[in-house]
Amino acid sequence: MENNRKNERYQRIYDQIDGLIIDKNYFIANMATIVAVLNNKLDYFFWTGFYLLINGELIIGPYQGTVADIKLEKNKGVCWAGINRNKMVIVPDVEKFPGHIGCDSRSRSEIVVPLKNPDGNIIGVLDIDSKTLDQFDKIDAKWLEKITELLWK
Ligand code: SME
Repeated sequence: MENNRKNERYQRIYDQIDGLIIDKNYFIANMATIVAVLNNKLDYFFWTGFYLLINGELIIGPYQGTVADIKLEKNKGVCWAGINRNKMVIVPDVEKFPGHIGCDSRSRSEIVVPLKNPDGNIIGVLDIDSKTLDQFDKIDAKWLEKITELLWK
């Protein structure tokens, strides 16, 4: 998708989610809304979901797509890399990412966005898979980070 068109598409998605989130206290409802909008509006999103840190484990939160692991093996895979590095991880080819955890063999590329609460602490990640190699770029990264910040608006 051409960059301007992609930015415009994300702006509309951002505005839609911003309009749907009515109260930051409805945290699970807001996460569910974010994944529903993203997964249905961007056709290259094959699996879209949250993993949340609960007692030091990464546990599945609201998601859209095929059935995923409830708990991710500690310090392994892309989601844990996002937590441990404390930054966004873009994986152009999941088969080349050591320790990648494949919940669905059709996934080819992936992006993981750390979720930081207003105190700056990581509480989980937003994880998105695509069936296309090298699908995610800086535009996805920029907008997905902005969209996760709506959880604390
Ligand atoms: N690929 C992730 C696991 C979650 S699934 O993609 C839904 C990882 O390596 O952490």
